[in-house]
Order: sequence, then structure tokens, then C-alpha cells
Amino acid sequence: PKMAVFASGNGSNFQAIADSIQRGELQAELALVVTDRPAAFVVERAEKLGVPSFAFLPSEYDSKQLYEEMLKEKLQSLGVEWIVLAGYMRLIGPVLLQAFENRIINIHPSVLPAFPGKDAIGQTLAAGAEFAGVTVHYVDAGMDTGKIIAQQSFAVGGRTREAVEKEIHEIEHQLYPATLQQLFNQ
Ligand code: GRF
Repeated sequence: PKMAVFASGNGSNFQAIADSIQRGELQAELALVVTDRPAAFVVERAEKLGVPSFAFLPSEYDSKQLYEEMLKEKLQSLGVEWIVLAGYMRLIGPVLLQAFENRIINIHPSVLPAFPGKDAIGQTLAAGAEFAGVTVHYVDAGMDTGKIIAQQSFAVGGRTREAVEKEIHEIEHQLYPATLQQLFNQ
């Protein structure tokens, strides 16, 4: 299926998805990268891979409804069936939720429902939680509240933040493409 990846930053998860497609493990087509931050590194990654990208500034629209209608038209005109969020730092509104019902997926760096929202890794460590991890879930109107699809966790032990972050990203980069492959083929 055709998918669009939405990202606001580095784009290492986008890269992992693209690499997985290139290896033939994830059978899907990357139709578009969408970003709300034109300077995000994910745009350079997309360029290198030859994936079209589209940057927009939410502040140039009067409402979320208006920019989501614009995105909806763009995605539908490209035949996009799935929206894959990968470090996209905005809530999805009713326009896209309705147009892509049960077709919007997110990855979050905690074992949800624990530690939703920003800096989940920092929250995990500050709480002294025994486990850190990663969740792939459907997107609903809430912040990291949608139905859980896949999770992977590990014991924090005495690890530094740096070590925990590294482990989380390694898990993300294999769990996200693998979970998408399962979803697309069920
Ligand atoms: C990841 O940790 C993801 O779980 C979270 O945002 C981060 C994005 O990283 N939603 P990257 O831009 O894919 O490198």
C-alpha cells in the first residue's frame, strides 16, 4: 500500500522504514514525507532517498481543520492509504482521523499507557520506572491514547539516559517496519 510518513525532526524512523522497503522486508510504497518543520533533517533524508517531501507551516493556516483539509486532498490525490507518524509533534484532528479511519499509526518511546506525551524517555527515568520501551499504536484524538498494536520493553537497570535512548531507538527501528508489514498484510 501507499503510505505517507509524517515527521517533525530527525527522521531516523522514517529512514528505518525506507531501508526496510529497500531490503524488500516491508512491502509498501513511500508516497510522501510530510513535515510541519521545513528545516527538519527528515527532509534531507527524503531527498537522498528520492522520496518526495512536502513541508507546510501550520501558522500559515487559520485552523487545524484548514491545514488538515489541504493535507487530506494532497494525500488522497496521491492515493495514500496509510499515514505513519514518526516523530510528528502534533495531534491529528477530526478531518484526517475521519478520512483515514484506522489507517493512522504512531510510534511512542514508552510502554503505553505509561508516560504518554513529550519526553517519554525523560519521564520514564524521572519516575524511576523498572521498564522502558516502545509502543506502536493506532492514532485517535488523544495524545498517545489509541489502541496498542505492538510493544517491546526492557529493564532499565542502572543504565544512563544515553544508553536507554540508544536501546529505544534500536528497538524502534526494527519494531516499526516489522509491525507495519504485519498490519499491511492482515
Ligand atoms: C521517536 O523516539 C518516536 O518514538 C517519537 O519521536 C522520536 C522520533 O525520532 N515519537 P526520529 O525523528 O524518527 O529519529
